[in-house]
Amino acid sequence: MTEPINVVVTGAAGQIAYSLLYQIAAGTVFGPQQSINLRLLDIPPMMKVLDGVVMELEDLALPLLREVLPTAEPAKAFENVAAAFLVGAMPRKEGMERKDLLAANVEIFKVQGEALDKYARKDVRVLVVGNPANTNALICSHYAPSIPKENFTAMTRLDQNRAQAALAARLNVQVDKVKNVIIWGNHSSTQYPDAAHATVELSSGVKTVPSEINDNEWLNNTFVETIQKRGAAVIAARKMSSAMSAAKAAGDHMRDWWFGTKPGEWVSMGVVSDGSYGIPKDIVFSFPVTIKDKRYEIVQNLPINNVAKSKLDITSKELEEERAEANNVLKK
Ligand code: NAD
Ligand code: LMR
Repeated sequence: MTEPINVVVTGAAGQIAYSLLYQIAAGTVFGPQQSINLRLLDIPPMMKVLDGVVMELEDLALPLLREVLPTAEPAKAFENVAAAFLVGAMPRKEGMERKDLLAANVEIFKVQGEALDKYARKDVRVLVVGNPANTNALICSHYAPSIPKENFTAMTRLDQNRAQAALAARLNVQVDKVKNVIIWGNHSSTQYPDAAHATVELSSGVKTVPSEINDNEWLNNTFVETIQKRGAAVIAARKMSSAMSAAKAAGDHMRDWWFGTKPGEWVSMGVVSDGSYGIPKDIVFSFPVTIKDKRYEIVQNLPINNVAKSKLDITSKELEEERAEANNVLKK
């Protein structure tokens, strides 16, 4: 077993953390050889609830789990962390868009960026889950200038998992037979779930998803809108936002970042744009990426048709607007 690493989860008393902490402690994210010191950050009124979470973590009796530190102080929570799950933020309610949370949540990511800058390892890998995730990740990175901006990512893996599951259901295959569906852009209702490059493994061989589905009307409209609105559909049904699936996606995202993607496969992550595909720089935009040695590379040269191009423009414009609004909120 290797030396423990410090891993922070913010919003540790909340509903996503409740599912996420088990995955981290059980070894499904950082591997079965990696022992973990958990740092659990929440706000002062939640410390009693957090005590209960700590009790349950102890009662899991998991050998990889070493220290567990519940705290309301960012300085303690971020000390020497190698990985950060930034979950703590207000979730949206029915009728809201995720960007409606900007004013309430962006300040949190400024404070936590500053704390990461001061206290975390310089090679820390940061995953922002709290909404609006892309813009929060951008703000967090701006306030942590001593950490490479490549180390800040936003979660669109839940959208990717949703898209993969929807395609598998339509094709009537097991979910892991579908690969390389892409989420472009913002984790919002302007995101573009793109099945154009996706493949499906059938007994007759590997085929492209569009040729197998053979229904452009469904792929370009029903499929896209279902994934764009899936978070809202869960809220309408549960009266609370997705949590179990969000936690699973956060674990998937960090595990792939840590251990890399499989040959020929890519995953979608919100990363600081380098201008690939003509997307403006300095927004956190979800791209298909491959990962090796804990570094991602944006998949290049995928053909983008005019319909896709116009969808990429819409979602990047929204991210530029969110960035401007976040800067206004932080100036006040
Ligand atoms: P929740 O309300 O159950 O938990 C949030 C927790 O964060 C609470 O315990 C709260 O006290 C804590 N918190 C608030 N401010 C904090 C701060 N400054 N520092 C540390 N902790 C703080 O919410 P949840 O369901 O766990 O969702 C958390 C966030 O994740 C929401 O913003 C939600 O919209 C977002 N989310 C994102 C995705 C995604 O795909 N990116 C998916 C699901 C949910
Ligand atoms: C989701 O996609 O389920 C989350 O971002 C929660 C939400 O507000 O939709």
